[in-house]
Amino acid sequence: MSEEHSSLWRAIVADAHRYPSPHNSQPIKLRPTGEHTATLYYDLDLGLPAESFGIPFAHVCAGVFLESLSVVARAHGYDVTEDLDLADMDFDATDRLHRFADVELVPVTLTADEQVEAQIELERFRTRRTSRRPYSRELVPDSILSDVIRISEDAGFEFRSTADPKRVKKIIHVNQATLFDDLQNDAVHGEIMEWLRFSRREAADRADGLSAETMLLPGPILRVAMGKRELWEAPVIGPLIKRVYLNTMRGVRQLGWLEGPFDGPADYIEAGRTFMRVWLELHRHGVVLHPFGTVITNPRSHQQFADIVGANEGDGRMAWMLFRFGYSQTPPFAHRRAPEHMIVTGRDAS
Ligand SMILES: Cc1cc2nc3c(=O)[nH]c(=O)nc-3n(C[C@H](O)[C@H](O)[C@H](O)COP(=O)(O)O)c2cc1C
Repeated sequence: MSEEHSSLWRAIVADAHRYPSPHNSQPIKLRPTGEHTATLYYDLDLGLPAESFGIPFAHVCAGVFLESLSVVARAHGYDVTEDLDLADMDFDATDRLHRFADVELVPVTLTADEQVEAQIELERFRTRRTSRRPYSRELVPDSILSDVIRISEDAGFEFRSTADPKRVKKIIHVNQATLFDDLQNDAVHGEIMEWLRFSRREAADRADGLSAETMLLPGPILRVAMGKRELWEAPVIGPLIKRVYLNTMRGVRQLGWLEGPFDGPADYIEAGRTFMRVWLELHRHGVVLHPFGTVITNPRSHQQFADIVGANEGDGRMAWMLFRFGYSQTPPFAHRRAPEHMIVTGRDAS
C-alpha cells in the first residue's frame, strides 16, 4: 500500500489512538489494507487475562475502540462499516495479534450542521478523561440521565444509577476492598504491577499504564502500597493506606451501572461501544466518570455489588460495568504511545 493510501489512516489514528483501555494498556492495533480499508487486531501481549472476566473485557475494549473510530472517522467525512470476527480470544495463541474486525471508511455527505456536530463530537472525544479526583456534592440532573438511559436502551442495555448515600458508601467500600483482594491474587497482582507508573517521568517515557498522577497518589506511596501487599494487613500502616486510597473517593454522590446481555464476543463488543457512547454523552454535559471495572472482574466484589443493587443477572445477562460519576476538577492527563505504535505494517493479509 502506498504512502498516499496510508495518510488517511494516519490522520484518523492520530486521534483514534486516544481511546480508553483498562490499565491504559492500549491493546488495539490497526493494519491499513487500502486507502479506505483496514484490519483491526487486539494485541494479546497487551491484554489483562489474569482477572476473571479479563478475557471478555478484551472484546469490551475492542467495542470501545470501534465507537471511538466511528466518532473520529465521521469528523473526517466517513462512516465506518465493520465486518466483525467474533471468535473467542485465546491468550495462549502463538499469533499474538487477534484479528477482530475488517473495517471500511465509506465517504458520507454531511450537511453543514452535521459537519459542525461531527467536529464537536471529535473535540469531546479528544478531551474525555477518567476522573479519579474527588467529586463535588452536586447531583447530575435527571434530564442528563434520561439521555444516558435512552442511549443504553437503543443498544439493548439498561442504565441504572443510585444516589442513595448508604448504597453508594457500601459500593465505594466494595471497590476499595477489591483492590486489596486483587493484590492477594498473584496473577492479578503481577498484572497490576506491570502497568503502574510511579513517577511522572516513567509515565511520560513509557506513555502507557496507570500513573500515580492520574491515580492521585504520591508515587512512593503507590509503590510501597502496591509492591508490599502484606502492608495492607499490617497494624497502623494498613488502615492508613486504605484511608489514603478512600480519600481519593471523596464526594461521590452517584454510581451508575450497565446491565444486559453479556454472553459472548458479540455482546461484549456492543457493551464496549455503548459504554463509550455513555461516557461521551456524560462528558458532553461536563460530567466526569471513573470506571470501577475491577469490581466487575473480581468475582467476590461482583457478587457483593450485584446483591447491593439487586442486579438482574443470569441467563446470559450481567451488570457488566460500574462507575462513579459527577463533577470534578479537570483530571490529570493519561499518556498514550505515539500513534504509529498502533499501526501494523508488513503483515500478510489474514
Ligand atoms: C473497559 C474499561 C474498564 C476500566 N476499568 C477501570 C477500573 O477498574 N479502574 C480504574 O481506575 N480505571 C478503569 N478504566 C479507566 C482506564 O484506566 C483509563 O481509561 C485509562 O487509564 C486511560 O485514561 P483516560 O480515560 O483518562 O484517557 C477502565 C477503562 C475502560 C475502557
